[in-house]
Amino acid sequence: MRVILVGFGVVGQSFAKLLLSRSADLYSQHGIKPRIVACVDNKGSAVSPAGLDLERLLAAKKKGTVGMYEKKESFDPIHVIENVDAEVVIECSPTNLTTGEPGTSHIISAMRTGKHVISVNKGPLALAFPSLIELANYNGVMLRFSGTVGGGTPILEFAKRCLKGDRIISFQGILNGTTNYILSKMEEGLTYESALADAKEKGYAEANSALDTDGYDAAAKLVIMSNWVMGMKVTMKDVARTGISGVKVSDVGRARERSNAIKLIAACDSRRLEVRPTEVSKKDPICVNGTLNAVTFSSEHSGQQTIIGRGAGGMETASAVLRDLIEIRDTNFAS
Ligand code: HSE
Repeated sequence: MRVILVGFGVVGQSFAKLLLSRSADLYSQHGIKPRIVACVDNKGSAVSPAGLDLERLLAAKKKGTVGMYEKKESFDPIHVIENVDAEVVIECSPTNLTTGEPGTSHIISAMRTGKHVISVNKGPLALAFPSLIELANYNGVMLRFSGTVGGGTPILEFAKRCLKGDRIISFQGILNGTTNYILSKMEEGLTYESALADAKEKGYAEANSALDTDGYDAAAKLVIMSNWVMGMKVTMKDVARTGISGVKVSDVGRARERSNAIKLIAACDSRRLEVRPTEVSKKDPICVNGTLNAVTFSSEHSGQQTIIGRGAGGMETASAVLRDLIEIRDTNFAS
């Protein structure tokens, strides 16, 4: 399968490393041989119809840009997306939850030129999910986005496939690792400020950490889940959102005295979408600590199930991209 990789940050590079380490078993287990025929970052691009040498691509990036692959620093992602022959575009450019750009334009160009899309970029989906799905259907291509929610933890697939046939009435959970890390550290006695500094240093937070602490990242994931899992047609503006900046160490302490913890909970009950700090019993399975994510689905017939796992990280998210790629191959190209 020929793949165009747009964006070569932590996730894009992890995906290249994953392909390097897994090429033999991907072929023997899944009969799939992905070839990155083009890669674009914010400074340049590299194109090779036979497939880029991934070691060389990673080495070029270390020098500053994938444009160093052939010492050509041309950069026009839309031109590359529209003109390079490929079956799939992987959109890994940085998330922008205000405009959705440049990811939205990349996704639209890919679908208009008949390419399937895997997005790990939350912005386009959080702001325009219903219209992007419509465009994918109109163009007869697949749009997949496992890595946008839960990192490598298959939260979307669990709901969509494992609970197929049942009716999910509501779900709630922890969808942001950074705020969960901060709240967990505050329980250990750290102040909000030092816990946030710690989360930034460890690389969990978004480049603009207000996206985490003000609840935007959790809201974006809630929107993606509500559209995909519940069949709603919602965007960011439909979420009632409160972040964690108002949570004090004393609030956390009082909750602990009641055997509870304060968590940033994202919830959907088929009508209302809400993100807000909530006191949760420590006995509740969604009461996980550190950067873990956890979601409880309540279904009409099978009751409640909780899925827990690492919600962020380059390799974790790259594994979700690979999962989507295998699904696209199995659906469209398997003989
Ligand atoms: N900043 C995000 C988080 C990264 O902390 O969950 C994963 O989307």
